[in-house]
Amino acid sequence: MTEAARGDVDVDGAGIAVSLREVTKTYDNGVMALGPIDLQVRKGELVSLLGPSGCGKSTALRIIAGLEAPTSGTVRIGSRVVNDVEAKDRDVSMVFQTYALYPHMSVQRNIEFPLKSRGMPRDERATRVREAARGLGLEGLLDRKPAQLSGGQRQRVALARAIVRRPAAFLMDEPLSNLDAKLRVQTRAELIELHRRLAATVVYVTHDQVEAMTMGDRIAILDRGVLQQIGPPQAVYDEPANLFVAQFIGSPSMNTIGARVVADSEAVAVELPGARIMLPAPTGAAVARAGADDVVLGVRPEHVRIDGGQLPATVSVVESLGHERHVVCRLDDGTMVIVREAADASPARAGDAVGLSVPSEHLHVFDAGSGRRVAV
Ligand SMILES: Nc1ncnc2c1ncn2[C@@H]1O[C@H](COP(=O)(O)OP(=O)(O)OP(=O)(O)O)[C@@H](O)[C@H]1O
Ligand SMILES: [Mg+2]
Repeated sequence: MTEAARGDVDVDGAGIAVSLREVTKTYDNGVMALGPIDLQVRKGELVSLLGPSGCGKSTALRIIAGLEAPTSGTVRIGSRVVNDVEAKDRDVSMVFQTYALYPHMSVQRNIEFPLKSRGMPRDERATRVREAARGLGLEGLLDRKPAQLSGGQRQRVALARAIVRRPAAFLMDEPLSNLDAKLRVQTRAELIELHRRLAATVVYVTHDQVEAMTMGDRIAILDRGVLQQIGPPQAVYDEPANLFVAQFIGSPSMNTIGARVVADSEAVAVELPGARIMLPAPTGAAVARAGADDVVLGVRPEHVRIDGGQLPATVSVVESLGHERHVVCRLDDGTMVIVREAADASPARAGDAVGLSVPSEHLHVFDAGSGRRVAV
């Protein structure tokens, strides 16, 4: 039988390290946790899997690792279909939120454990451990036991233990979420460096959109087991495919304002609380094509201006963050609109009646029914 007939050739192209094709997962209790989902991770790429709690991130990762069997669909590591391959034979390393180090072993022995259990000769093991320890700043700690380390150091040991093996892919499930905020930022930067230096393929699960954006070459956003969008962070930020993605990515979230479409022979406008806004011709044409009567307008806080514009609002709260200000406004119908402005902008005060404006090139339009972006 040829390889092609067995279906285990690289149908995804040579550059793919991990691939899920139409993968679904329904747990025994009837919970449909995934799918179907399609995801291809290129060699050397870091893809962040992002979504709210319970959306299926860990399930997807565990299916790639072989710790969970998919209900249907195909899983590949490199060119090999691994549905029937045991976890230990899949050539992937998993790093979890909890460090799971062996408490009775030194850092040195913890790191070399996966090599020893694969029968690697002692000299080679020592070299690998030294390299990994150097890369993660652990050289001075090799003789300590896990209990004698800080949380950040323990997580670095767990990372070192994952990288000594040089697997085809690293699977990381919220590896930084047990660290405090400062250490998280520092370890995040170290992880990015490590990924670049090793040209490692990484699938990185997080519910933290900042982590996903800063680390991912691409981010994949999941909601209720369904992949909503995948793309480079900036592209997803600039052109979210639907309302869920629009509001999940970015902090503060994108403002959303319900509006009615009013079209005449000349142009397309939208009616929002207290104002009617003409849409630029291409956007208007796209809205007309989509045939939606009701839309949701989206605008990021950094793109709204308090400048006497045509959208009437009342300032309700001004939050000063030092380097910038978030001005929380209410439209006539109570819709909240947050404006992000520089700390040195002339300050609005709670209770002020203001006029907002939104540059039309920064206006996102979504179908109110489906939530889908109206593509221009
Ligand atoms: N072993 C299991 N048996 C039954 N249901 C499960 C099992 N593991 C997970 N689930 C359910 O599947 C869904 C997806 O869970 P999963 O752990 O993949 O979510 P997650 O995105 O990783 O969430 P979190 O951010 O909270 O870790 C959830 O509804 C969860 O309750
Ligand atoms: Mg999880």
